[in-house]
Amino acid sequence: VPYLQPGPEPAVHTQKAFAPQDTFTAKWTRADARQIKRMSDPGAGSRQSSMPAEYTMPNVPQDFPDMSNEQVWVWDTWPLTDANANQYSVNGQEIIFSLVADRNLGFDDRHVFAKIGYFYRPAGIPANLRPTNGGWTYGGLVFDEGVTGKIFKDQSYSHQTQWSGSARIFPGGEIKLFFTDVAFYRDAEGKDIKPYDPQIALSVGMVHANKKKGVWFTGFKNVIPLLSADGTYYQTGEQNPYFNFRDPFTFEDPAHPGETFMVFEGNSAMPRESAVCTAKDLGYQAGDPYAETVEQVNASGATYQIGNIGLARAKNKDLTKWEFLPPILSANCVTDQTERPQIYMKDGKYYLFTISHRGTYAAGLDGPEGVYGFVGNGIRSDYQPMNQGSGLVLGNPTNLNFNAGFPYAPDYNQPLGHFQAYSHYVMPGGLVQSFIDTIGTEGNFRRGGTLAPTVKIDIEGASSAVDHSYGSNGNGLGGWADIPANRNVNPVEQI
Ligand code: FRU
Ligand code: FRU
Ligand code: FRU
Repeated sequence: VPYLQPGPEPAVHTQKAFAPQDTFTAKWTRADARQIKRMSDPGAGSRQSSMPAEYTMPNVPQDFPDMSNEQVWVWDTWPLTDANANQYSVNGQEIIFSLVADRNLGFDDRHVFAKIGYFYRPAGIPANLRPTNGGWTYGGLVFDEGVTGKIFKDQSYSHQTQWSGSARIFPGGEIKLFFTDVAFYRDAEGKDIKPYDPQIALSVGMVHANKKKGVWFTGFKNVIPLLSADGTYYQTGEQNPYFNFRDPFTFEDPAHPGETFMVFEGNSAMPRESAVCTAKDLGYQAGDPYAETVEQVNASGATYQIGNIGLARAKNKDLTKWEFLPPILSANCVTDQTERPQIYMKDGKYYLFTISHRGTYAAGLDGPEGVYGFVGNGIRSDYQPMNQGSGLVLGNPTNLNFNAGFPYAPDYNQPLGHFQAYSHYVMPGGLVQSFIDTIGTEGNFRRGGTLAPTVKIDIEGASSAVDHSYGSNGNGLGGWADIPANRNVNPVEQI
């Protein structure tokens, strides 16, 4: 248990479950998030991490191998899963989906050019017996040119891009690919003519795999729009041109058999300039000497950061029709981005994991780039932020005593891992995959665009800790780009 600096107490969260359609939204409060700074060592010097080792991803070396053999930039990546987040191989081939972009682009220019690509490799080989870069073969893009642009009413977009999601496998090899279909409307200078239009969407295809030809798809010729932000629960472009609405992840809940749910990234549906946070968003206990007032916080600019995690429910078995339910978590005046949310189940508990950036914290708060986690007794519950009530699960090595800088210009005083990894995804058994953003210090850093080594966290109740013994070198780092299947359709022995 880390030593805690003086500071406020976290809010009380009961983990109590509510019905999925209930209006209760759990709050990740400012009091909770301030526990992160309480765990940070104020004496940590230049280029040292100030954060506890149990919540910090081990250092990733700068001489990383590239999983695509220099073919594409790779970032957000997801496996082929079932309704319970098990990961599948098909006919002896493991399959993953990644956002990819042309390597002629600067890595930071990738977002408006992102497309979904895929990789495959033979299943059932231990990480230390694979090629160093993970041994994946790049299979190409999932969609033919033009397919994902068709859903937009206004066809005058300047950029049309595919953002993150998740892929579900069904009997017979059907794949439902849930993703974020995005249109940007920009002028020649790159300024928005009107707000971008992100839509949660579905495309259906079939997977084919064998030892000789690898993996290929048929289908994925049409896109079905599923959800656009509604302005009631989920902020729209009219309310805030910089709104976030993306990253669908679908699952079934054993407590509600026969239904399919989706979590996704949103923002609280308040207009940008008139958003306000409440005493509940702040979460201070009565009489806490470290409390802030609502007036102070609302005057501080913190109201520009109002991330939430949405919930939706399928209205048909084909998963082509969905309805919004109220958000399951809000981070009002805490952070603006609660990205790539996922539901992870263990020992009867529901874990809500999400990723967030250091740079998207609200005024007065701070925390590393990485994974944040919340535990409760149902998909909608009074989620308790994990680890001392803070929410921090796996951050990059970071020194909170110094500024961050940027992935393209890290601050002089940050350790080499400050921007090492992002877009972490928690897999069965507590394995965590992520992509490399920047490794190194000011003036001596290397950009990533490939997957980091997989690491492992041990999850126990409301606590987690990095397993530093994981990996064949005993340094907590597993294989590069290691995303192993834990289920096999037609295992390789049979074909
Ligand atoms: C910062 C970021 C990402 C988001 C993208 C939007 O890199 O805000 O989180 O996906 O830019 O353009
Ligand atoms: C996370 C993210 C996702 C988004 C994608 C866009 O790294 O910001 O939320 O779908 O990147 O590139
Ligand atoms: C285009 C494409 C996809 C298909 C794959 C087959 O890149 O035709 O539609 O899934 O290639 O390799």
